[in-house]
Amino acid sequence: FQLPKAKNEPVLSYAPGSPEKAALKAKMAEMKGQTIEIPQTIGGKKIMEGEKIAIRPPHDHKHILGYYYKGGSQHVQMAIDAAAAAKPAWEAMPWEERAAIFLKAADLLAGPYRAKMNAATMLGQSKNAYQAEIDCVAELCDFYRFNAEYMIQIYSEQPQSPALTWNRMEYRALEGFVFAITPFNFTSIAGNLPAAPALMGNTVIWKPAETQIYSAAVIMEIFEAAGLPAGVINLLLVDGPIAGDLIFSHPDFAGLHFTGSTKVFQGMWTTIGKNIAKYKSYPRIVGETGGKDFILAHPSANPTALAVAMVRGAFEYQGQKCSAASRAYVPSSIWPAVKEKAVALVKDMKMGSPEDFRNFINAVIDERAFDKITNYIVLARDAKDAEIIAGGKYDKTKGYFIEPTLVVVTDPKHRLLQEEIFGPVLTIYVYEDAQFDEMPALVNSTSPYALTGAIFAQDRGVIHALSNALRHSAGNFYINDKPTGAVVGQQPFGGARASGTNDKAGSVWNLLRWVSPRAMKENF
Ligand code: NAD
Ligand code: ALA
Repeated sequence: FQLPKAKNEPVLSYAPGSPEKAALKAKMAEMKGQTIEIPQTIGGKKIMEGEKIAIRPPHDHKHILGYYYKGGSQHVQMAIDAAAAAKPAWEAMPWEERAAIFLKAADLLAGPYRAKMNAATMLGQSKNAYQAEIDCVAELCDFYRFNAEYMIQIYSEQPQSPALTWNRMEYRALEGFVFAITPFNFTSIAGNLPAAPALMGNTVIWKPAETQIYSAAVIMEIFEAAGLPAGVINLLLVDGPIAGDLIFSHPDFAGLHFTGSTKVFQGMWTTIGKNIAKYKSYPRIVGETGGKDFILAHPSANPTALAVAMVRGAFEYQGQKCSAASRAYVPSSIWPAVKEKAVALVKDMKMGSPEDFRNFINAVIDERAFDKITNYIVLARDAKDAEIIAGGKYDKTKGYFIEPTLVVVTDPKHRLLQEEIFGPVLTIYVYEDAQFDEMPALVNSTSPYALTGAIFAQDRGVIHALSNALRHSAGNFYINDKPTGAVVGQQPFGGARASGTNDKAGSVWNLLRWVSPRAMKENF
């Protein structure tokens, strides 16, 4: 069989007067007018029992979009049983039939579900239309289509067979089930983490973040509409530690596909380590975690391009991208021009509900995030060695709104340059041009993370030298571009050090983690 060649899903503009904008506005109004109930989906059954938890838009937190039913440990056991029951038929299904389900899911997403998926992400996670479109439509379609192509590459990788023998590799699914735990900030990651191991023949228990359940329910609906058999992906709406207690001590636990914070991932790895003797096989542990992503500019950098990259890279989706620029190092010779442009761009950014398409900045995800981020702004405001040069105000009366904030610090090891803030705060250190040679070592040693990073320079020798000096500082490295916006099939995404296992979401390397190859030899 041949599968259709994967191509990146075109991104729609949602420009004023466009049909896609009208369709999306109408869908958002329809969904805001409803109060839905979201069940757990375990073994194909819709489970509506347990506590009902309200889902509210972060930008309008008095409004209720719906409720989800929060389960308990009995549902974790049900999900483990459902994954085991679905496994034999699923792994025996021809790979092209499994692929067809996810290819159909991509087509449904790009077609009849496009407006609903975008509306759910915009309302539930407070994303503007463009940020929703590149995430929950384009990137998620790309994950499903490119993964199918990478799967074929894996299955096609076969050894030599001398005369009178037949050597072959069988790419078996893992023995047991995979646990997918997903974050709030990318609907595409939430949709890919359970799907990638499932594509390779595994059955999966999927626990989304509490703050992403509204769009997770749409993903589940699409899986079902695409013909995914019951029990292959089970949507578990249970507190993480309760799910982890049972799952991480179960002999059939075969893999963890995680994206989220470093601290949570390290806690899970520790638990898995303590339980290691209980498992049938050593589990595959794949985790993409936190970041403190940098931009380092050389004096030869173009000040306008640099300022645009700093502001876009730091403030798209309110700085809640794992890839977001969070610290910038700018030479003093170009700083006045960069500052003027960056401050002007920030002042131009409109903030408010994503339901008004003119707003670039929407709300941060919840009150906990609001409090954490604004504590860093208070720290910047009160510190003698920091100055807020744009933004700095916040208000949670109606929604969790924080202005995009630029802070300049004079201490190159300032806390604001070291810790992941995960919000719309960019910390800038202005260095003397003569200090340039010290900058790579400073960038490298200031935080434990290595997710994304960008350099700005026109001088080719400098580009070469910086690329080498910073080769372990980022899993995704950009030259004269912002550090966000990796595209599946173009820049496989993932970080090292405290940022993750670097198994590159949407790639051959990632899919290889979900198979256990068997080498077979037969004499003729
Ligand atoms: P989080 O760590 O708070 O939560 C992630 C998931 O883990 C959620 O589903 C949560 O419910 C679950 N969880 C939390 N504690 C748990 C526990 N004890 N047991 C089991 N599950 C538990 O992260 P978040 O706030 O949803 O996302 C933001 C973080 O994710 C940031 O640190 C960001 O950098 C990171 N992130 C990284 C990447 C990447 O590719 N490297 C991508 C997106 C987000
Ligand atoms: N694809 C996302 C980005 O690079 C993670 O911003």
